[in-house]
Parts: sequence; structure tokens; C-alpha cells
Amino acid sequence: MNKRGNWNSRIGFILAASGSAVGLGNIWRFPYTAGKNGGAAFLLIYLAAIVVLALPVLLAEAALGRATGRNPVGAFKALAPRGLWKGFGYLGVTAGFMILSYYAVIAGWTLGYFLKALRGEFNALAAAGKDAAVVSQQTFGTFTATPVLQIILLAVFLGLTVYVTSRGVSGGIERWSKLLMPVLLVLLVVLMIRSLTLDGAGVGLKFYLKPDFSRITPSVVIAAMGQAFFSLSLGVGTMITYGSYVRKNENLPASAGWIALCDTIIAITAGFIIFPAVFSQGMDPAGGPGLVFNILPVIFAKIPLGQVFGSLFFLLLAIAALTTTVSLLEVPVAYFIDERGWTRRRAAWITGIFCVIMGIPAALSQGSVGFLSRLPLVNMDFLSLWDLIWGNLVLSIGALFIAVFVGWVWKSSKALMEISRGGGRFRLALFWVIAIRYVAPALILVILLSKIL
Ligand code: PHE
Repeated sequence: MNKRGNWNSRIGFILAASGSAVGLGNIWRFPYTAGKNGGAAFLLIYLAAIVVLALPVLLAEAALGRATGRNPVGAFKALAPRGLWKGFGYLGVTAGFMILSYYAVIAGWTLGYFLKALRGEFNALAAAGKDAAVVSQQTFGTFTATPVLQIILLAVFLGLTVYVTSRGVSGGIERWSKLLMPVLLVLLVVLMIRSLTLDGAGVGLKFYLKPDFSRITPSVVIAAMGQAFFSLSLGVGTMITYGSYVRKNENLPASAGWIALCDTIIAITAGFIIFPAVFSQGMDPAGGPGLVFNILPVIFAKIPLGQVFGSLFFLLLAIAALTTTVSLLEVPVAYFIDERGWTRRRAAWITGIFCVIMGIPAALSQGSVGFLSRLPLVNMDFLSLWDLIWGNLVLSIGALFIAVFVGWVWKSSKALMEISRGGGRFRLALFWVIAIRYVAPALILVILLSKIL
């Protein structure tokens, strides 16, 4: 058995897990999904899902990981050697890998946009005046429809991910997260202030904050629930894996609370940046995956030193994405190390290379290849389809099974012992038990079925 690493500091898990949670999910996926699903009504359901569903599952995953000290497959196997449970471990490992394959495409965009901003390519937007949004959309369209560039960016980003991952869990992830996340937040606040003071920002604010309950449909609820799990990196075993490196003296409930709080604050702030600006520039909030990349350059064109702020922002976003892709790659890597006896380097490289190949259809689906950009039958592009399947449905199913497993098979009483091991009284123990045994399984199931029925 390989010796497994541990986080270096007592709050190592908070840092690394927040690094995993905070990423494109908050700044890219949350605003565009909220925009597509009616704004404020979505926000409301999202927040409820974080508290009632995601937080309890986060705690369950972390406890499962720490108690077993294993990757998702190993964790299920350790506690339920017989039966089909470990199958869900495999599902998680697969989902983590599949999410990484398209997530890295968007992450590649942040690199591309960093370079564009650095070279001053967005400066022209300032001169474009009222047409800035149109010009920005054209720039983005051309960028994503350049096949070779898209594949190169995908490969470079996965290369960076493999590099960091192959150096081990506590290598740099912890320290980077500690340093860079506050800087990212400061920059987000600057952008938020600018966006809120744009002409016509009020309409966007209203869209974001004043719920129109008639817009709540089963699809909106599924999207909000999926976003809550996605944003906290749940349902695919990331938090089981990261939990397996947690020291026994770390306070899990407090950690989970902090992670969810950081993550939610950043997502909400991103909404305060995107919606006022989108409405003030006459753009469509339901514009899809390109939304954030279309609007951000327009905002930068409207602040002093926009080129500096713009480059810095996309650089930080790329780093935030990197701490997330590292956590996604860590799931299959931990599996190959624990269960197959591979070395870390080998596991990281082989999985990474395979992931580049699997990511190519998504990379070509934003205008490069017509068929992939608009798939027949489903009427969406390949990347959005993958995100729906893996990032929403499989992820929610994964969360469902983790709740059932921890609540009923491993038993919530045993899980509670693990949870309260790090000292401090866990005051919400009763709430957690009810949530993990009854509320989460029932609600997730009903929400998933609501679409079919
Ligand atoms: N939570 C990450 C983000 O918001 C995405 C993610 C999903 C990571 C699932 C791991 C597992 O960017």
C-alpha cells in the first residue's frame, strides 16, 4: 500500500476543498445557468439547495473519506465489501473524469482570454461605444470557432493540471488557495461596483433579486439543485477523496460550513457583476455558456486601467479553475494509486492524456464543427449536453447514493462519530441526520423524477 499524503496544516482541507469548490462553477456556470433559468427564482432555489441538500452531502462525503482514507471506489468497498455499492464509486470516478474533459475546455478559455487581455485586444471595445457588446460577442465567437486553438488551450490546461497533480496533494494547492482566493474576491468586488453603477443596471438587479415564481418549472429546480452540487464539488467523489487526506483533528462541520460560505459568496458576487452589466448592454441573460466571456471584456473596457484589471482577473480565474481541475483529476488518480498500485505520476499522465482526447468533441462544439455545435435531436451543443448529463444528472444521482449510503448503509450514527472527531460539539447533528437519511434522498429523487413524470 502506498503511503497516503495529508494536508499540511490543520485547515488544509478548508483551503484545498475551497480551491476545488470555487472555480468556473461560480463565475462561469452559475451566472449563465441562473440567466437561463429565470434569475431570482433560480437563485432562491439554489440557496435552499445549498443549505438543505449540498451542505449535508458535503459533510457526508468528507466523513466518508476521512473514515476510510480511500478514493471513492475504495471507500465504498471498505464499508460495504459485498453488494453493488462500489459500483457507485466507479460511477463517481467516471463522472469526475468526464466533467474534467469539458471543464478543461472552459478553463482553456480563461487562458486564452488572459492572453487577449494582456495584449490589449479588448481595448477596442472602449472605442466601440454602444456596440461594445456586439463586438465582444463577435470576438468570442471567432475565438471559440478556431479549432486548433481550442484544442491547444485544452491540452495546455490539462498539462498544467497533470503537472500540479503529479506533485502530490499537499504540494502547492493549499498555499495557492490561501493566497489567491482573497485577491480574486477583491477583484470581484471592484467589478461588482463598476457593474452596479452602469446605466440601466437596475433592470439586471431586479432580474437577479426579484423572483418571478411563475418561472419555476421542474427543469429550473433540477438545474438549481445540480448547480448546488456542482458548485460544492459533490456527487462525484471529489470531497471523499479530499476528505481522505484530512487530519483527524480537523473540525469537519466547521470546515464544511466555511467551504460552503466562501463558495456561495463568490457565486452570488459573480451574479451581481454579470446581470447588471448584461442588462445595461442589452444582452440576453439566457445567452448560454458564452455569457460571462461576452460581458466581462465590456466591463473591463469601462474601468480605468481595464487592461491591467482584465489580465489580472483572467489570470486569477485560470488559477481558480486550476485548483478545481486538480481536484477533478485527483479522483481517478487516487483510484489508480489506491486500487491499482500505480505511481502518482503515471496515474496523472495517463489519465490526463486520455482526458485531452475525450475533451476534443467539447472543444470543437462551440462553432468549430457544425454538427457538434448543434446536435440533432437534443438541439444543443456537445459541451452543454455533456454538462447536462455529467454535471447535472449523474452528479445529482451520485449525491443521492452518497446520502443513502452514509445515512442507511454505513449508518448516520457511525458517520456522526467520525464527524465529531475533530473536537467541538456538532450542534446541528440532528438536522444533519434528518437531512442525510430522509430529506436529501427523498427530495433528490422527487426532483429528478419530476421531469419525467
Ligand atoms: N466545484 C467546481 C466549480 O465550481 C466544479 C466541480 C464539480 C469540481 C464537481 C469537482 C466536482 O468550479
